[in-house]
Amino acid sequence: MKQRTAIALGLALAFGTGAAFAQKAEVIHWWTSGGESAAVKELANAYKAAGGTWVDSAIAGGEAARSTAINRIVGGTPSTAAQFNTSKQFHDIIDAGLLNNVDEVAQKNGWDKWLPAPILNSVKVKGHFYAVPVNIHMPAWFWYSKAAFAKAGITAEPKSADEFFAALDKLKAAGVVPLAQGGQPWQEKILFDAWLAHVGGSEMYLKIYRDRDAATLQSPAFKSLLVSYKKLKSYTDAGSPGRNWNDATSMVISGKAGVQIMGDWAKGEFQAANQTAGKEFGCFAGFGPKSPYIIAGDVFVFPKTTDPAQIKAQHLLADTFTSPATQVAFNNKKGSIPIRTDVDAKGMDICAQMGIQIMKDTSRHLPNPEMLISPDVSGVMQDIVTKYWNTNQSADDAVKALVLAVKGG
Ligand code: GAL
Repeated sequence: MKQRTAIALGLALAFGTGAAFAQKAEVIHWWTSGGESAAVKELANAYKAAGGTWVDSAIAGGEAARSTAINRIVGGTPSTAAQFNTSKQFHDIIDAGLLNNVDEVAQKNGWDKWLPAPILNSVKVKGHFYAVPVNIHMPAWFWYSKAAFAKAGITAEPKSADEFFAALDKLKAAGVVPLAQGGQPWQEKILFDAWLAHVGGSEMYLKIYRDRDAATLQSPAFKSLLVSYKKLKSYTDAGSPGRNWNDATSMVISGKAGVQIMGDWAKGEFQAANQTAGKEFGCFAGFGPKSPYIIAGDVFVFPKTTDPAQIKAQHLLADTFTSPATQVAFNNKKGSIPIRTDVDAKGMDICAQMGIQIMKDTSRHLPNPEMLISPDVSGVMQDIVTKYWNTNQSADDAVKALVLAVKGG
């Protein structure tokens, strides 16, 4: 009897103790705000409903979460899955042989057939699927308080940079903080990228990020773009430095501020505060009907393991995250749109409907910067933008630094 128990225990240790244990998944992510927590719960619930056990490892801040994931992998105690952005952020750990692929799940579900090209290019490397994409985020949306716009007498959504500045002036005159802005380097960079795409235009954006073209950076058009980007700062409040993005969103939710330029994860905050798109707040994806749509979002990668139970868990995560029902439930709370078009999105709000509609026009797609440049170059450019935003550095000096950055690495 004793011996049989010992053998059973030995077998259990070697092969896992049944389905629930076998599919225990520790998932690292940086979704800690109200809307984000509500959204990640949908992923966890779907995984649990499929028979898995979810171990939640939430780490505040994208950079912190990603470096924890990498340190754990390198240190030999990897999580089952870890969040990265849909980009090249995890390509070096693929090259180093530190990730498992999920080809089996991708093939079974036909990812090749329905993933938009920029997302496919991020997750499929040298013929293998190394990450499961969960959403499409557009990092350059405008979110505004209807009450604040009404108070300031703004009757139409701005259709150009000039109209936008005019609206900001009206908000200022009405005693509202015109631009709700957080104060962390990534937020200043995301604002810069939004301004570059919407005001500089797709061509300027691609010349810089795809072609690393010094002449574009040295052009008068780019210099004036930098100057107008910095002008935005005069519409922010004194509390901006150090502020989290979701605290900036709260200012729009309460009507204390007029507008925030931020990814559609901000919509998750409005929803968590029981506000409805088109009612208390409005959204526009850029200036006018042909504005570019930057494609970004989140993926989960699967650290290398040969433990069959962990591999099973990784496959179950990839499978449940991409199922049509999970895609709708999760993206509804997250503010993003589903990665697949064969899901029933009719019940999604008007901003999501707008995003889904725009996505159909591939001529409006723009890859996010980190799909085009390495994390190293991206980090250097972020430092330059932050310095320019927060100091008295001239536009000419910022240009010089950017030229050096695009030439390096
Ligand atoms: C982005 C991520 C979003 C959202 C945001 C703020 O990098 O793609 O899902 O979480 O950070 O935390």
